[in-house]
Amino acid sequence: MMKQRIVAGNWKMNKNYNGAVSLLDDVLAKYDSGSDVKVIVAPPAIYLSEFSNRVNGSENFALAAQNVSSEKNGAFTGEVSAEMLSSLHIQYCLVGHSERRTYYNESNSDVNKKVKALLEQSITPIICIGETLEERESEQQFSVVKEQLVIAIKDVEAKQLKNAIVAYEPVWAIGTGKTASSSQAEEMHKFIHTLLVEVVGAEIANTISILYGGSCKPDNAKELFNKANIDGGLIGGAALEADSFIALTNTF
Ligand code: 13P
Repeated sequence: MMKQRIVAGNWKMNKNYNGAVSLLDDVLAKYDSGSDVKVIVAPPAIYLSEFSNRVNGSENFALAAQNVSSEKNGAFTGEVSAEMLSSLHIQYCLVGHSERRTYYNESNSDVNKKVKALLEQSITPIICIGETLEERESEQQFSVVKEQLVIAIKDVEAKQLKNAIVAYEPVWAIGTGKTASSSQAEEMHKFIHTLLVEVVGAEIANTISILYGGSCKPDNAKELFNKANIDGGLIGGAALEADSFIALTNTF
């Protein structure tokens, strides 16, 4: 059984309009549309409309939003709804990134609401989970990750999670230059896969790719991506430059 292999770039709050368009065009020119690795780019929301036109027809390439409102529509100043994303043909959306949990106080139950809002619009969630350094040092990483994931998909029908994506991003590895070792990451990915089998059943769990994120770069990715339960990466810093991002898509 081989899950879909994926390299996703989370641009976070980087690049002005010209910089964003030129990075996207560079990535589109260099990625291999014939490869079986799916490439996903998550730019700042303000560029999704323009990007959606530019990627039109690009095989094996998709766009993701970095966040979505849990509300349907209405008086929620500054928010972007799942329906708006869907109307631009956006296929994926990150939810529960640790930066949103940390800086915007997103709770596991907020993440659950967002997952449901996305699925209602047939947008595939990329559910981000991962423990802090403190939690790892006190050996709580498995219970933390379990709680994050179980609550994220609470009351969601298993079949709706077909082809969903989970990203394991240990908080202590994000933007720090410090990656999880490939054996630490594999241990957690295996745990996540086994948990998914328990919660949604093997048939659906086998369609859910599990990505690693946290200081993943071309020089450390091969060892990570070679592991049985690591299906690719969610990339921050190294996705801001086309050559390193594309190198990652060729690392399996
Ligand atoms: P870095 O690759 O910059 O550590 O960021 C990872 C990340 O948070 C992707 O969502």
